[in-house]
Amino acid sequence: MSQFVETEKSVVDVQKEHARFIKPLGDWRRSHHCNNLTIANNGETVCLMGWVQYRRDHGGLIFVDLRDREGLTQVVFSPEVAPEAHGEAHVIRSEYVIAIKGRVRPRPEGMANPNLHTGEIEVVVLEWKLLNTAKTPPFLVEDRTDCAEGLRMQYRYLDLRRPNMAKNLRTRHAIVQACRNYLNELDFLEVETPVLTKSTPEGARDFLVPSRMNPGEFYALPQSPQQFKQMLMMSGVDRYYQVARCFRDEDLRADRQPEFTQVDIEMSFVDEEQVMAMAEGLMARVFKESLGVEISLPIPRMPYEEAMRDYGCDKPDTRFDLKLKDVTDIVRGSAFKLFASAQLVKAMRVPAGGTMTRKEIDELTEYVKGFGAMGLAWIKIHETEWQSPIAKFLSEEERAGLVEACGLVPGDIVFFQAGEPGLVNNALAGLRVKLGHKLGLIPENTWNLLWVTDFPLFEYSEEEQRWVACHHPFTAAQDESYGIMLSDPAKAKARAYDMVLNGNEIGGGSIRIHNPNDQTRMFEGLGFTEESAKAQFGYFIQALDYGTPPHGGIAFGLDRVAMLLTGATSIRDVIAFPKNQKACCLLTEAPSAVDNKQLRELGIRLREKAAAPAETSAE
Ligand code: AMO
Repeated sequence: MSQFVETEKSVVDVQKEHARFIKPLGDWRRSHHCNNLTIANNGETVCLMGWVQYRRDHGGLIFVDLRDREGLTQVVFSPEVAPEAHGEAHVIRSEYVIAIKGRVRPRPEGMANPNLHTGEIEVVVLEWKLLNTAKTPPFLVEDRTDCAEGLRMQYRYLDLRRPNMAKNLRTRHAIVQACRNYLNELDFLEVETPVLTKSTPEGARDFLVPSRMNPGEFYALPQSPQQFKQMLMMSGVDRYYQVARCFRDEDLRADRQPEFTQVDIEMSFVDEEQVMAMAEGLMARVFKESLGVEISLPIPRMPYEEAMRDYGCDKPDTRFDLKLKDVTDIVRGSAFKLFASAQLVKAMRVPAGGTMTRKEIDELTEYVKGFGAMGLAWIKIHETEWQSPIAKFLSEEERAGLVEACGLVPGDIVFFQAGEPGLVNNALAGLRVKLGHKLGLIPENTWNLLWVTDFPLFEYSEEEQRWVACHHPFTAAQDESYGIMLSDPAKAKARAYDMVLNGNEIGGGSIRIHNPNDQTRMFEGLGFTEESAKAQFGYFIQALDYGTPPHGGIAFGLDRVAMLLTGATSIRDVIAFPKNQKACCLLTEAPSAVDNKQLRELGIRLREKAAAPAETSAE
């Protein structure tokens, strides 16, 4: 490689020019990765390969931070040690791929970097090869990049080079391996189930795939392998698991993707105690192997009703207190009409929150409006008076009732929501978490695992105007609920359980119906006629008839577990190639239009050019 003298050329020209210096890998073999070397390797000759994080020219020396998946090593080109290598090193640019052979030496006095594992050493280059050039990346390939997430997703291969992202992938890998190790030791079999299948009712919309061989007919991508894992129990597999891709066409949030991964588990001849004990052991193993954290077992349990009553949601964050109080009866006859007429009035006392400014309260009001609330009522409790726009409406008796119910003392602020129960609970549950963060009530490095149990069997869907399964239609009713399932569906309880971590639902499962009559009864409760149940689930009802063992299981949301254990704020940061909020892959630009020939083969004609998938019709 001859000395390259840089002129005023465009970056692309420079890159093209540099391409002439690319050499084949030949017989060079990597001896260490870029996070390996320490002072213990002093004097060794090593061979490293990776990407150039930075090149710095300094006092005649050229410094390169060389990066690979594992970390960084400082590499030095010195005119004294290797004049030829040094002369050629001017071509090096960020993200070029290089290989170096060199000698490990301690960094000069005072130059050690305590933040790097390799921070005490550097490698002085003897020989090097340019393995490839790179365009100037559209954002800095380092953790403190502030570029928009869209750009990171478009150039995901650059984004994944960032140390944080590489670490996330590694932690996710450790979690999956911990699950596999644990389940293998317990004699579970890993079995794959189809991706091209029939609709499974897990509550979301299906993604459909047209069948070319069967024009006008569609596969559905599985929302989960629910029916297959149950049929594996009917097949005698006894203990199944799968790291399963699931597909749900639903509105996306920070903890939801249209395709996501479950660690899906099913067991035969068990009740909920055995499934929950297995799941607790699994989580303990995941924490131990991926974070080195010991969690204490058993995991506490909270009935659904208590979670809704005290926290307003079925996935309470129990790391901090702030509980809700039902004060409906106390303000039933209030002069404040909104309270007097409301179906439910709940209060949340914030100890010592009375110092909150009007501006802060206005911000919280805007926040709860995001949940559909009309506003946010509040009272500041002072020594001599109550300060609030609604205080004047409250009688002495009502005040005394609120003090007693909420434990109000001077210095507090108390917030209220009144109205339809779903809205009241949602708004206050959201406000609770918001205040937990805002007031610094959430302790760091705390892992609160919780089981939520005794879920309702059904919930009423206003949209569908019928009862739908709260978990899914294959979940068994609790013994005491079996009799009232059809006559009083609102009161029936399920043998279902969710695992919650720091206020996030990370897993859910149930004991299943294993008797065909009970399954038929369940479908009846869900408004299916015998014919419509047969049309959709005939094969499953039939399978139940051939000797089904009692069984149950659970599925963990792997992406959510990985998000929480890595401290990421979105599951997108723990998925190699995620979709954005509009369910698009910005890297591949999927979904995309297809040509007419493909559509013709599938027997599909689009109504309009820009027709949305929902408007696609079979010819
Ligand atoms: P469920 O629907 O509760 O149960 O799903 C199990 C877990 O999967 C995760 N999860 C998601 N993660 C990311 N994006 C999504 N869109 C998404 N939806 C769900 C959650 C959830 O707790 N077949 C049953 C399990 C069973 O009964 O065994 C099921 O799928 O962490």
